[in-house]
Amino acid sequence: MCHRPTCRLLLVLAACLPFTLPALADAAPEPDAELLQSTRQIAGELVNELGRTLKGTLSSDGPVAAVSVCKEAAPAIAERLSARHGARVVRVGTRARNPRTGVPNDWQQEALAQFETRLAAGEQPSALEAWRVAETAGGQRELRYAKAITVQPMCVTCHGKPEDMPAAITEKLRTEYPQDQATGYSVGQLRGAVVVTRPLPPAAR
Ligand code: HEC
Repeated sequence: MCHRPTCRLLLVLAACLPFTLPALADAAPEPDAELLQSTRQIAGELVNELGRTLKGTLSSDGPVAAVSVCKEAAPAIAERLSARHGARVVRVGTRARNPRTGVPNDWQQEALAQFETRLAAGEQPSALEAWRVAETAGGQRELRYAKAITVQPMCVTCHGKPEDMPAAITEKLRTEYPQDQATGYSVGQLRGAVVVTRPLPPAAR
């Protein structure tokens, strides 16, 4: 057994290594506070603008017309915000209505699972957000931000249980979204998330 100080140091290091390595790997870089704040605002803009449009159409033209508004306006608003902020803004669902745009990828699925757990633990829906700085397969660093969307009373007209939904809506959805999974929700449940992805400059070495 070696008792010289350097040997002892090496032994201590060897003993600690299994603990320090995972800890370092877990220490993901945090985004700049200002960038995070402006990203929150982009997500908020989508929710507000869409909510306003939906509420307006529901009261002026009724729910069947509002389905078309949702179909046209939701992606249009998301695209406009994406172009304005140099970001990618989308909505995903715990169950998707639009199979092309509404299905979460792996990271988004993780965020949704985390929101479900936090919601069940009694956290306020408005506090449910998640983010991480990550790198794409192509080496581009990006900020990924998700904000939970929960079901409000007006949502169940189009996302609720059969007894909450007017027959005309069920019919319209069957035609427009034959693969619709996004019904059966109750007020207060997690419906999905707004996700904002922003490219970041390479990390300083
Ligand atoms: C008038 C019917 C209608 C109402 C009311 C409505 N939605 Fe939707 N919702 C839709 C349609 C249609 C789509 C698919 C839009 C598309 O093709 O991008 C959709 C898609 C979504 C998506 C995107 C994910 C997916 O499943 O494709 C989310 C999230 C969502 N709705 C949440 C809500 C919430 C929350 C409310 C209440 C504030 C709400 N919706 C109210 C019709 C409605």
